[in-house]
Amino acid sequence: MCGIVAYLGENNAYDVLIKGLKRLEYRGYDSAGIALIDKDLSIFKKQGKVNDLETTFSGKTPHGKVGIGHTRWATHGEPNDVNAHPHYSSDKNLAIIHNGIIENYDSIKKELQQKGHQFLSETDSEVFIHFIEDIQKNNKCSLDEAVRIALTKVVGAYAIVILSKDNPDQLIAARKGSPLVIGIGAENNEFFLASDATPIVEYTKNVVYLNDEEVAIIDKTTGINIKNIEAIEQSPYVHTLDMELEAIEKGGFDYFMLKEIFEQPRSVADCMRGRLISEKEHALLGGIRKHFNDLVEAKRIIIVACGTSWHAGLVAEYVIEEFTRTPVEVEYASEFRYRNPIINKGDVVLAISQSGETADTLAAIELAKNKGAIILGICNVVGSSIARASHEGAYTHAGPEIGVASTKAFTAQLTVLYILALMLAKEKNTITKNQFLELSRQMESIPDKIKQVLDLNDEIEKISTLYKDVRNFLYLGRGYNFPVALEGALKLKEISYIHAEGYPAAEMKHGPIALIDKEMPVVVIATRDSSYDKIISNIQEVKARQGKVIAVVTKGDALIPSMVDHVIEVPPTHEAIMPLVSSIPLQLLSYHIAIMRGCNVDQPRNLAKSVTVE
Ligand code: M6R
Repeated sequence: MCGIVAYLGENNAYDVLIKGLKRLEYRGYDSAGIALIDKDLSIFKKQGKVNDLETTFSGKTPHGKVGIGHTRWATHGEPNDVNAHPHYSSDKNLAIIHNGIIENYDSIKKELQQKGHQFLSETDSEVFIHFIEDIQKNNKCSLDEAVRIALTKVVGAYAIVILSKDNPDQLIAARKGSPLVIGIGAENNEFFLASDATPIVEYTKNVVYLNDEEVAIIDKTTGINIKNIEAIEQSPYVHTLDMELEAIEKGGFDYFMLKEIFEQPRSVADCMRGRLISEKEHALLGGIRKHFNDLVEAKRIIIVACGTSWHAGLVAEYVIEEFTRTPVEVEYASEFRYRNPIINKGDVVLAISQSGETADTLAAIELAKNKGAIILGICNVVGSSIARASHEGAYTHAGPEIGVASTKAFTAQLTVLYILALMLAKEKNTITKNQFLELSRQMESIPDKIKQVLDLNDEIEKISTLYKDVRNFLYLGRGYNFPVALEGALKLKEISYIHAEGYPAAEMKHGPIALIDKEMPVVVIATRDSSYDKIISNIQEVKARQGKVIAVVTKGDALIPSMVDHVIEVPPTHEAIMPLVSSIPLQLLSYHIAIMRGCNVDQPRNLAKSVTVE
C-alpha cells in the first residue's frame, strides 16, 4: 500500500515524480503529493488522485532537480489534504514519504509532544520525521545516522525517502518490510527511487533492491552508499531489470484490467515456456532445485496466501493431493501467522503472492521459517520481499499486473502450481506416463483455449447488461471449479461493489438457498467433469426457486442449456486444469458489469494492489 517515488539528477524532478506516481497509483489513490527543492523545500499535496494533484498545482511548482512523491492508501488518519504525504519536520527543513506502518508511533508522538513538537496530521509518518529530526538535533549527527538510530527504535514496516533542504544533492532512504528499488541513471549521477520498478524502467534497467533494515545515502557525487542498522557498510548489488516499458502501458485498451485479461494466452504460455514440454516428458521449475528433494519427501505441504492467491492455493490443494498423494493444507496467511500453527519437520510451505509484498504472507513465512520449515515462494514480482524471504521458488512471469483485480497473475499462479504438481508426481511415481502426457498436452493447449474464451467477450458483455443493476450474486462450483466460484465472486465484488458469494455448490442447501428467488443471479461453473451430474441437481435446485442461472458449460453440452437462462461455452480440457479456462469468462463478466456501473475497475475504492499492512 502506498507508492513512493523520488528523483535526484539534472532534469525537472516534477515531471519524473508525476509520471512515476501515475505508474504507482495502483498501490493507493486516497491522496497524492510531492516535495521539491528549488531554493526552498516546498510540499504540494492533495486528497484524491494524481490527476487532482496535477490540476490543483498546475504551473505553481518550481523547477527542482530533486524531489519525492507519494500516493497514499490511508492507514492512520482519513484521506484528506493534511494527512497526505510528504510530511515536514517541525523546522520544515526535512520532508518524508513513507509506505508502511509505525506501530509504536503513539508513544513516540507523546514523548515528542512533551518536548514541544506540534503535529499537523494524524499520521504515523509525520511522527517518524519529527522523531528523526529530534534525534539529529540531540545527537548533532548526520541525517543518515539520525535515520539509522531512529530505525533501531521504531517498530513496524517502512520504506522511506527523506529530502533535506540543507543537502539538495542527497536523498536518504531506508526500508524494512516495505519495498524500495533504486534505479541508477546512465550518467551515474541520476537516481530514481520507487516502491517498484515501474516508474524506473523508462529511464534505466540498472537497479539496486534495498534490503530490510538498510539505510541508503544517495548522493549526486558519491553515488549509492548503503549501511545496515548496525552502521556496517554494505556493497550494493546492481541487478538488471527484465521488464519492458510496453508491459506497463495500456496498449490501446481502456483499462489495464482488460488488457491483462486479454494477455492471458501469452502470459500462460510464457509461464510454461521451457518448463513443461510434453513430448520430452519434461516438467521442471528451475528455481526449485536445492529443495526439490524436501518437496518430494514432504509429509505435508502448507500453502499460505491471501485473496486471489489463496484461491490459486485451493486449486493446488486438489491437484497436488490428487496427483502426488502428499497432504496439502491451505491457510489464509493472516490466520496462520497468529494461531501458533503446528509445523513438523519435513513440512514444506508454499507462499503464493502476485506482488511478493503482502504483509500477512511475509509474516506467515517468517513464522514458518522460525519453526524450521522450508519456504518455496511463488511470486510474480521479481526481486520482491517474499521472493527474497523464501529459500527457493518460482516466478510466474505474468509481467507487471497493474489492475488491482488479479487476473493474469491468477492463471499464471495456477500454471506454476500445475507444473509443480506434475514434476512432483513424476518424481514420486504417483502418476502414470500416460496421465503425465495427457495432462501436459492439455496444459500446452490452454493458451489457445483461453483465446477461444476471449472470443466470447461480446456475448459475455450482452449477458452483463441484464445483471448490471442487481444487488447480489451467487457463484457455485464443485471440485476443481469450487475455487473458481470463490474467485469469480471476489472479482465481481471488488470491482463492481455488488455483493457476491462463492460456495461449493452442494453447500447451497445448508443456508444460501434461502436467498434464491427470481431476483438472484447464480453463476454456476458446470463444465463436464466427474461432478457433472451432481451440479445438474444443484442447478435444478436453483431453478425450482426461480433463480436466474448463468452457466459456464463445456462446448457442445446439450443438457444444461435447456435448463438455464444463459450459457457461456468453454472448450473442453482435463477437469484438473479446467480452472485455467473456466475462470476467464468470470473475469470478463465482472469487468463488463463493473464498467456498466461506472466503476473504475483498475482502481476500485478502498483497495490497493499491494497490501503491505496487516
Ligand atoms: O499480491 P498478493 O497476491 O499477495 O495479493 C493478495 C491479495 O491482496 C490479492 O489477491 C487481492 O485479493 C486481489 N485484489 C484480488 O483480485
